[in-house]
Amino acid sequence: MFLSFVSVIALFVPSVFAASAEQWRSRSIYQLFTDRYALPSGAKSSNCDPGDQTWCGGTWSAIRENLDYIQGAGFTAVWISPVNKNYDGPRTKYGDAYTGYWVTDISQLNEHFGTADDLKALSAELHKRGMYLMVDMVLNNVMATSIPTDYSSYFFKETSMYHPYCAIDWGNRTSEEDCWLGDTVVPLPDINTENPAVSQGYVDWIGGFIQEYSIDGLRLDAAKHAPAEFWTPICAKAGVFCMGEVFGNEIDLAASYQGPDALDSVLNYPIYDALVEAFAIPGPQNMTALVQVMQQSKQSYKDLSVLGNFLENQDNPRWSNISVDIQSMLNAMVFTFMTDGIPIVYYGQEQRFSGNADPWNREPLWPSHYANSTMYNSIATLNKIRSFVINQTDGGWTTSNAEILSSTDNGIAVLKGNVLSIMTNIGSPPQNTSIGVYTPWATLTSLMDVMSCTQHVVGSNGTVSVEYSLGGHAVVLLPTADLGESGLCGYKAPPVGGLDAHASTAGRLSVIPSSLVMISVLVMLGHLL
Ligand SMILES: *[C@@H]1O[C@H](CO)[C@@H](O)[C@H](O)[C@H]1NC(C)=O
Ligand SMILES: *[C@@H]1O[C@H](CO)[C@@H](O)[C@H](O)[C@H]1NC(C)=O
Ligand SMILES: *[C@@H]1O[C@H](CO)[C@@H](O)[C@H](O)[C@H]1NC(C)=O
Ligand SMILES: *[C@@H]1O[C@H](CO)[C@@H](O)[C@H](O)[C@H]1NC(C)=O
Ligand SMILES: *[C@@H]1O[C@H](CO)[C@@H](O)[C@H](O)[C@H]1NC(C)=O
Ligand SMILES: *[C@@H]1O[C@H](CO)[C@@H](O)[C@H](O)[C@H]1NC(C)=O
Ligand SMILES: *[C@@H]1O[C@H](CO)[C@@H](O)[C@H](O)[C@H]1NC(C)=O
Repeated sequence: MFLSFVSVIALFVPSVFAASAEQWRSRSIYQLFTDRYALPSGAKSSNCDPGDQTWCGGTWSAIRENLDYIQGAGFTAVWISPVNKNYDGPRTKYGDAYTGYWVTDISQLNEHFGTADDLKALSAELHKRGMYLMVDMVLNNVMATSIPTDYSSYFFKETSMYHPYCAIDWGNRTSEEDCWLGDTVVPLPDINTENPAVSQGYVDWIGGFIQEYSIDGLRLDAAKHAPAEFWTPICAKAGVFCMGEVFGNEIDLAASYQGPDALDSVLNYPIYDALVEAFAIPGPQNMTALVQVMQQSKQSYKDLSVLGNFLENQDNPRWSNISVDIQSMLNAMVFTFMTDGIPIVYYGQEQRFSGNADPWNREPLWPSHYANSTMYNSIATLNKIRSFVINQTDGGWTTSNAEILSSTDNGIAVLKGNVLSIMTNIGSPPQNTSIGVYTPWATLTSLMDVMSCTQHVVGSNGTVSVEYSLGGHAVVLLPTADLGESGLCGYKAPPVGGLDAHASTAGRLSVIPSSLVMISVLVMLGHLL
């Protein structure tokens, strides 16, 4: 169904969640592994082979000393790997606890990454920069090296506070909630969520911990492996935005973890799977799958605007391992930034790291020399565009619904507020193909593709078409008249201290040469629409 432009931007879905979810919705998140993001200043650049599965030397202080790189790309929040005390005994068959996910005592910090003061200093420095701290937290399970397990040094010491061992029978929800993740080599004893002392123990502890370190949000590991209602009192006491990990492509299951009796948000795994399906090269390049997941998501979730959108993380293969074509990544990434939800970029993606799944996707970042790579700069542009339209609409853009205006085997055009994103899966080689779309804009309206700073003009009956004679680039169109103080494509930068002051584009072209103006090829639209 066709929605008028006015009704699209006027749609404002009131939120039933806490103010902190409202604040997170306009953020953009950089996810990192503390052990792998940066070495302390003066440390010798260590040879860090992810295959060794051991500590490489990253710390909270080193993150703090290297925040310019994250902020320079326009991110407004950092999600760090778990901070709590981990197993620290003899090396296991799967290496050492460098990831932070092998928690034993949630009430203590992990000494490998620094002191309490170091973590507080990181938090303070982020806040000084107007950025948020999200901490990854493992509350569903602990880690052990034997069955049965001696819990005397753990946060929960009684055997009754854990479910008895059983291997997960995947697809059986009771089993997924009560049996143990991991395996018999490195078992991950499952917390007994039915024992009221467990929930109470977490509730009594978490508020103080959040306040002590001024944490702004939580990413809850393995949220799917505890009942949704288990999380409600814990997150309420934490008093911050909670985003849960509900792994898998089942939309209804993921959606059941969002709401007043569950979490604020979940990581958008179904969309991730659909983006791989639609954009990866080689791959099925199935755009229909993405359209279907978008439509079903709209029916199922209570609030799409706070879901976590990602293309990579610590569990899935890097995008560049699945798909080597940079345009495939850029087009899929435009989707994660310019449609509904909070964009998340996993450290190293901006350097096109290409490791496979665990442990190969946990590469050290320092060999990249934190270069301003092509992908880094493209991500900075996407953050700048998103922050600008959010600021321009006083936040309203985040809750306006992304509408699919057209889709073909090769592309999809999505309108969210005044941003029209046209994405394609053809990859870098030029092709004699185009994507056409009816927009709500009047004929002769001037639009700017803010990715390439190329002007487009709306044709008769609101038509816009993009052709790919230079390859399958992602196009993000805004009305030129709206670009004001965007700092985009040569337009004046926002005032200092305002939006995105750290990434000004002073010195770039201020007048768009008329040779860049492309008139849409209306003749072809008859076939395409
Ligand atoms: C599901 O798992 C639970 C817990 O392990 C088990 O008791 C139950 O029999 C399983 N149900 C089915 C249908 O296999
Ligand atoms: C594309 O995905 C849709 C939805 O999942 C599916 O019905 C269809 O069979 C897929 N097409 C191909 C060619 O794989
Ligand atoms: C995928 O990852 C594996 C292991 O890290 C590596 O050997 C392989 O070369 C990668 N593939 C690509 C296309 O980068
Ligand atoms: C990247 O660009 C920023 C801003 O221009 C600059 O401060 C920084 O030194 C550059 N980084 C590298 C590694 O060149
Ligand atoms: C592009 O495709 C159209 C329609 O199939 C065809 O008429 C035209 O000649 C093609 N152009 C080139 C440069 O191949
Ligand atoms: C004009 O655009 C509408 C969609 O906005 C479409 O339904 C209609 O067919 C178009 N008319 C012509 C003559 O192309
Ligand atoms: C938008 O930017 C202006 C100036 O840069 C700032 O004063 C204002 O608070 C921002 N608005 C929002 C909603 O962030």
